[in-house]
Amino acid sequence: MRLKDKVVLVTASTRGIGLACVKACAKEGARVYMGARNMERAQETAGALSAEGLSVTPVYNDASKEETYRIMIQEVVDKEGRIDVLVNNFGTSDPRKDMDISHTDPAVFIETVNMNLKSVFISSQEAIRHMEQTGGGSIINISSIGGLVPDISQIAYGTSKGAINYLTKLIAVQEARHNIRCNAVLPGMTATDAVKSNLTPEFQEFFLRHTPIRRMGLPEEIAAAVVYFASDDAAYTTGQIMAVSGGFGLATPVFGDLADRANARG
Ligand SMILES: NC(=O)c1ccc[n+]([C@@H]2O[C@H](COP(=O)([O-])OP(=O)(O)OC[C@H]3O[C@@H](n4cnc5c(N)ncnc54)[C@H](OP(=O)(O)O)[C@@H]3O)[C@@H](O)[C@H]2O)c1
Repeated sequence: MRLKDKVVLVTASTRGIGLACVKACAKEGARVYMGARNMERAQETAGALSAEGLSVTPVYNDASKEETYRIMIQEVVDKEGRIDVLVNNFGTSDPRKDMDISHTDPAVFIETVNMNLKSVFISSQEAIRHMEQTGGGSIINISSIGGLVPDISQIAYGTSKGAINYLTKLIAVQEARHNIRCNAVLPGMTATDAVKSNLTPEFQEFFLRHTPIRRMGLPEEIAAAVVYFASDDAAYTTGQIMAVSGGFGLATPVFGDLADRANARG
């Protein structure tokens, strides 16, 4: 019970990595709030988890509407008197439109960067106001390995996630004196709906070829890193940018070719 009695909010958490974070934190004893735009789906999921004895409550947040961040955080604080952990999980990109510098409409670039950055900035700013008054807290940003290693496409997504990595360090430095920690988890390719609907099987194969642990990550494996940063086990850890990517982004650029040759030799 590493998060016993902590109040945790996870944004965009009806599915995928967010939902895995909700479950993992609740299983560690936290009272968890699920940020969701689809309240029907959130109520259904929260109901099923509550029936298992977990404390999970949906709160409304549409990531495209700035005022809903303030309302979401306020709702948690009104109910609990505090917010101890904020997991900024929301992130978006449409790879059909978010391409390279030559082929991306500036409006798509600006909108994607805007959505991804404001989701972290506004919710963190709102949570910090309360955390400062209640003795501290932990903020965990779900970034991406794409914010560390440039790709041939998704220029807006990569830029926004790179900025989120830097924002993580800025928050860590600026809020340490208030006992507020801020860390980022950078998933590699993780088995969620986003991967199934956005990335072709061919791209997935290319990606895994350069992933030393040759498989996709599971949402639960991302959530395990989130639980660590949320817990007091990480009380002396802040400003860290931690890849959970099976080693993607770590190896020499010719890794895939050399690994294939070594495998062929047996
Ligand atoms: N999967 C990967 O391989 C991977 C890799 C690197 C980083 N990441 C990052 O991990 C995070 C989660 O990704 P995922 O793969 O778990 O995504 P996902 O499975 O597609 O789930 C997306 C979640 O975001 C919610 N959402 C979408 N638009 C929203 C909006 N406007 N307002 C509020 N909620 C909204 C969805 O809610 P609805 O049910 O309402 O649609 C859903 O709960 C993102 O920040 C992503 O960039 C993922």
